[in-house]
Amino acid sequence: MDKLLREHRKSLGGVDVISFGDDAAVERLRDTTCVDVPMQLNWTWNYDSEVEELRSLYEKGKVNQWNAETDLDWDVHCSRDEWVIEPEASMLNNVLVAMGADEETRRAAAFDETNFILSQLLHGEQAALQLCGQLTNICDKMDEKSYAASQVIDEARHVEAFSKFMQRKMGGIHPVGPTLKTLLDLLLEADTARKKTLGMQTLFEGMAVGIMNVMREEARNSLLIDMIRRVELDEARHAAFGVLMMRRVVAEASEEERNELEDWAFTILEALNANHQLDMLRLLGPRYGIDPEGVVEFTVQMPNFGELNSPIYMHTVIPNLRNLGLITDRTREQWIDAGMLYPGTVGAN
Ligand SMILES: [Fe+2]
Ligand SMILES: [Fe+2]
Repeated sequence: MDKLLREHRKSLGGVDVISFGDDAAVERLRDTTCVDVPMQLNWTWNYDSEVEELRSLYEKGKVNQWNAETDLDWDVHCSRDEWVIEPEASMLNNVLVAMGADEETRRAAAFDETNFILSQLLHGEQAALQLCGQLTNICDKMDEKSYAASQVIDEARHVEAFSKFMQRKMGGIHPVGPTLKTLLDLLLEADTARKKTLGMQTLFEGMAVGIMNVMREEARNSLLIDMIRRVELDEARHAAFGVLMMRRVVAEASEEERNELEDWAFTILEALNANHQLDMLRLLGPRYGIDPEGVVEFTVQMPNFGELNSPIYMHTVIPNLRNLGLITDRTREQWIDAGMLYPGTVGAN
C-alpha cells in the first residue's frame, strides 16, 4: 500500500500530489473488497476494570445511544434545487463562479460535492466499524474490548444514518476515492492495536470531526445539520478513546518507537492531504467543464494556501497529536510545509 501511494505521486505546479489517473486501476482498487489482514486475538481472564477512564467512556456510550431511523426527521425535504450548504463553502461553486456559470449549475455542483464528501465519510465509517471489531479481538484488557464494542454499534449507526441520508435524499452514494481506500486499507492491515488506534481514532476520526464541524456550520438543510450534530457527539467519545489509549502507549514507548509512531502519523495524513481533492475533482469536475488538475495547480500555488488548507487539520488532529507528543521539533516543519499545520493558530505551538 505504501508503494501504491508512492507510485501515484507527481509534481503539479511544483507541489507533490497524489493522483490516481488510471480509471482501470481505480476500479481494481475498489473491487478489492476482500483484504487479507493479520489479526492477533487476545483473551483476558481479568474481568475487573483496569483502566477507569476507558470504563467510564464505555458507560457514557451506553447511555448516549440514539436511533438513526426514529430520532432523525426523515420528512425534511432535500434536493438539488436548494443550496444544501453555503455557496462559498463549495469548492466547485467557487470555481464555477469564476467560470461565469449560472446559479442552477452552481447549486447542483455544490449538491454533488456535498454528496461526495458525505460518501467518503460513509466509507470511512465502514472502515471504523470494521477496525473497532478488530480492536475487540486484539486489545488485551476488558475495558478496551468493551469500549471498542460500544464503538462498533456507534459506527454501525453512523453507516446507517449516512447511507440512508444519501440514498433517500441525495439520489445515491459516490464510490470511495482511491487515495482514501488505500489509506483505510493501511489502517485495517496494521498489525498492532497502537497503529490501528493512532490511525483510526486519532488521525481519521480527528479529521472526520474537523470536516463534520465545518460541514455542520455551513449546512443549510436541517436534517443534514441534525444528523451531523448527533454523529459528532459520538465521535467526541471516539476521539477521547484515541487520546486515552495513545497517551498510555506513548508514555511507555521508547524514543525509537515514539519516532516511528510520529512518522507514521505524518505519512498517513500527508498522503490524504497530498490528494488535494483530486479524487473528487476527477469524478465531478468533467460534469461541469472543470479541469481537475488546473484547479489543484491553482489552489496549491495560492500564497495563503496553508492558511486556507489547514483548518480541518488544526481543528482536532494537530492539537491532539501535539498533546500526545507526536508532533515534535523533529517533524514540525514537514507539517507546515505540507500546509496542514498553520503557525499562530490555537494548538499549533
Ligand atoms: Fe463514526
Ligand atoms: Fe467514530
